[in-house]
Amino acid sequence: MAAKKWGHCSVRCFGCNAPVPTEEGTLRTIAVANHKGGVGKTTTAANLAAGLARAGHRTLLVDADAQAQASYFFVDDLAAVEADLQDVIVAHRAPVEVVVRTRVEGLDLLPATLSLAQLDMQLVAMAKREDRVRMGLAPLAERYEFAVVDLAPSLAPLTLSALVAADEIVVPVNPTRFAMLGLGTFLGWVQEYRELDVIHGRLLGILVTMWDGHLRIARQVQATLDELPVRRFESLIPKRTAAEDQAEARLVVGDPGASEDLSAAYSAFTEEVLSLVTEAVPA
Ligand SMILES: Nc1ncnc2c1ncn2[C@@H]1O[C@H](COP(=O)(O)OP(=O)(O)OP(=O)(O)O)[C@@H](O)[C@H]1O
Ligand SMILES: [Mg+2]
Repeated sequence: MAAKKWGHCSVRCFGCNAPVPTEEGTLRTIAVANHKGGVGKTTTAANLAAGLARAGHRTLLVDADAQAQASYFFVDDLAAVEADLQDVIVAHRAPVEVVVRTRVEGLDLLPATLSLAQLDMQLVAMAKREDRVRMGLAPLAERYEFAVVDLAPSLAPLTLSALVAADEIVVPVNPTRFAMLGLGTFLGWVQEYRELDVIHGRLLGILVTMWDGHLRIARQVQATLDELPVRRFESLIPKRTAAEDQAEARLVVGDPGASEDLSAAYSAFTEEVLSLVTEAVPA
């Protein structure tokens, strides 16, 4: 892929989102975020990261959630992980020392540990706290094409800092009433920070996860999303009990034994992401 950094045309513009090239680095950071819990952020981040790597793009999965569930997909012994984003941001450890290889060729992981739970409190006391994730990942800019960041269900300082670092923001949502209420809050929060010129990343789109077209609420949610001035990814991630088994078995898209349905849906979503992030620059 052409090594290029992209920005966004306007901090106020939800609808246009035309990409523009910027000067620094080659790393393109995609944050997977929603402050509502259990909407499929981690499943999406793990599968998107694996999908990008398997499509030939050097990718880093950044686990920015102390629950360490994204790490679980790729690390056999979580108890043996001794460093995480906190070491990079607070202890100024070189991120390359903290990153581990995964079984997926082209995919590395910046894992999480429980101690990451302290980072929100520590960030509060740090100058330029919103910039700290971007600064922490900056030394990796030439090493990877993509960093996919899995975020905790929160609006805490680490979430904000990760969104400030993001070139693109993907918002998974499962089709339930409560998730839709949370989505409005989250999009409003992001928009406020964009208007304050704090978050500059492009809101790439909303991904419907755990989709079951037989449910009335699912169809209502789809219709509501289609009214919003924010892209809804065409790919719908189907609701499958296999997702739970896959998490248990640490399977992601492209792994032998992974659910064909889920793999197909996440592959299509990864292709959508790739085509959006590499779309032509306006003349
Ligand atoms: N397509 C799917 N169909 C059915 N279940 C799913 C699907 N995707 C994810 N799940 C399950 O839903 C639960 C929540 O998913 P996941 O952990 O990815 O969400 P999350 O938004 O990261 O949660 P949290 O906010 O706690 O970090 C998990 O048990 C997961 O296995
Ligand atoms: Mg999660």
